[in-house]
Amino acid sequence: MNPGLFDLSGKCFVITGGGGLLGPRHAIAIARQGGLPVLMDIEKERLEAARKSVESAAKKPCAALVADVTQEPSLKAALDHCLEKFGGIAGLINNAAIDAKVGGGASGLTRLEQFPLDQWNREMAVGLTGAFLCSRIFGGHMAASGKGGVILNIASDLALIAPDQRLYRQEGVAEDQQPVKPVTYSVIKHALIGLTRYLATYWASKNVRVNALCPGGVKNKQPEEFLRRIQNLIPLGRMADLDEYEGAVVFLCSEASAYMTGQLLVMDGGRSVW
Ligand SMILES: NC(=O)c1ccc[n+]([C@@H]2O[C@H](COP(=O)([O-])OP(=O)(O)OC[C@H]3O[C@@H](n4cnc5c(N)ncnc54)[C@H](O)[C@@H]3O)[C@@H](O)[C@H]2O)c1
Repeated sequence: MNPGLFDLSGKCFVITGGGGLLGPRHAIAIARQGGLPVLMDIEKERLEAARKSVESAAKKPCAALVADVTQEPSLKAALDHCLEKFGGIAGLINNAAIDAKVGGGASGLTRLEQFPLDQWNREMAVGLTGAFLCSRIFGGHMAASGKGGVILNIASDLALIAPDQRLYRQEGVAEDQQPVKPVTYSVIKHALIGLTRYLATYWASKNVRVNALCPGGVKNKQPEEFLRRIQNLIPLGRMADLDEYEGAVVFLCSEASAYMTGQLLVMDGGRSVW
């Protein structure tokens, strides 16, 4: 095997939603392979904390930019900044999302019948329209540059299967008040697969490769009862550790996946095959 297959030296990767839980892990993976991660987020303080945590874990530089994936002018300014400071863009990771909280009980707000339209619009704007706008601006630049590049859409195991609402059931709560995973999560993640396939063929001749990673849920201090229930749905019997997607991110961002576009890499402990 060519030892340079996974090398990302001299390449700049924009990671949206970079101040959250997984964004910094994508950045650590890229930095360790010699690439320059650029974390992008709307939350300035979280962003700076994330940038520092990446630099301290990877012992490599990491950049950060405040930008809003729902605002085209903000993204255009971010692209100009990257071109001026870092000399180009080799990749985009569409990772930003509004965490679709499981509600229910007294509020009942995440059940389909009561799901607020403005929440639907807010979540779509970040998770789906944001991915479209970032792809158009950063992907469009990569396509026009003559150098190509990669786009990696962070989808979910719930891009392939429906949420199992039994995971969230609460004893003693009426049926029409039971908490549920909101409809937006399923719709956004399924739609990202459509966006992946569309862009992969649209920009194939420009050598902009577009793939999606479908991660299963990450262990993150969930209640014991939830863990017990979800582990029963996963053949490997556990949720993912925070660092378990790093290899996949490097693979999909590097020459190791040079002959792969329009595809999904499903890493969910086997949940979607059961
Ligand atoms: N954590 C998991 O278990 C898991 C599992 C499967 C898929 N995913 C997906 O992975 C991605 C990252 O998940 P996470 O757990 O790190 O999420 P997170 O909620 O921790 O981070 C998301 C980040 O996006 C940022 N953001 C929100 N609106 C934005 C905007 N308008 N512009 C720019 N940034 C904005 C937030 O500030 C936040 O820092 C998401 O797409 C998520 O759906 C996560």
